Amino acid sequence: MLKEIFEQPDALANTIRGRLDPAGGTAFLSGLSLSPRELAAVRRVVIVGCGTSLHAGMVGKYLFEKLADIPTAPEQAAEFRYSNPIVGPDDWVIALSQSGETADTLAAVRESIRKGALVSGLCNVVGSTIAREAGRGVYLHAGPEISVASTKAFTAQVTALLMTALKLGRTRRLSFEDGDRLVKEISRLPELVGKVLEGNDAIAKVAEKYAKADDMFFIGRGMLHPVALEGALKIKEVAYVHAEGYQAAELKHGPIALLSEKTPVVALLADIPGKEKTLGNVQECRTRMAPVVGVVTEGDEAAAAAVTDALVIPKTCAELSPIVTVVVLQLFAYHVARLRGCEIDQPRNLAKSVTVE
Ligand code: AGP
Repeated sequence: MLKEIFEQPDALANTIRGRLDPAGGTAFLSGLSLSPRELAAVRRVVIVGCGTSLHAGMVGKYLFEKLADIPTAPEQAAEFRYSNPIVGPDDWVIALSQSGETADTLAAVRESIRKGALVSGLCNVVGSTIAREAGRGVYLHAGPEISVASTKAFTAQVTALLMTALKLGRTRRLSFEDGDRLVKEISRLPELVGKVLEGNDAIAKVAEKYAKADDMFFIGRGMLHPVALEGALKIKEVAYVHAEGYQAAELKHGPIALLSEKTPVVALLADIPGKEKTLGNVQECRTRMAPVVGVVTEGDEAAAAAVTDALVIPKTCAELSPIVTVVVLQLFAYHVARLRGCEIDQPRNLAKSVTVE
């Protein structure tokens, strides 16, 4: 798991390589085999996946709606496949799967094809069943992911979704200038993630303070809410800590009853819209004596001062904040698991690919 966390700058460089189009302020994604006209005709996007891939799809919702101004629904694949889904020729179903073999996601692909939807696969394993049956899509090129806990596949999935949203957006109202801004920022991703990894020792130090906690909350807003879910999933999987990812505004509607000095809260406070509101939620947690670990943007002294322990990410645009933030949470989960003496690469009860229902 640690090896794959540290591979992310190279993995993301491979995901991005040859796919950015500075001259057009867009992305080349030839594997989609969709013309601008076909892309422009899409009326809705549905992103299906499970686990970490579902969390990437939930980030995708924000990216597609912001950049391409198109309704986008992330769907848990098992729910989708049995819901008699309302999809058809105007819908673009994007199946997210690192392995390309997850049974529920494969079934969702087949059901979408039966109903005449446009279907693409975003997979890491070349030639996997989902990639083959979708017939078109984007390979992540993140390299083999062996650790049961998915790390580099998540950041590669979000990066691939970002490039896809950029491409779709540029067939619509996204301007060249906005596209150009994103092309430049996406090309910085490997360097930005490398900067996060340089904070590994600081993250390990903070993990020592909270490694004995039996319960944790991870909170975020907007496109950082799925990242909160992903951070909670990581620490559940490898450190066996009961952790809940929550929409930050939801905490006061009940869960805050669980907070005490024994319940650390990890707050995602990247300097993007919504941060000020999440800082208000941080205050609510601290008045209940809960220690707060904040993932804050470098230089944001106010956010750093508002939390018990600050973990710093480099400044970037909103669209990239889920990627740089999640790397901190991956390392936090790894170190808590290490300090708890857990079997990190082969966690109990888990398999790398869930090929059964
Ligand atoms: C992620 O850490 C988990 N191992 C699990 O949730 C995984 O993301 C899920 O089973 C989906 O797998 P896939 O991406 O290969 O379809």
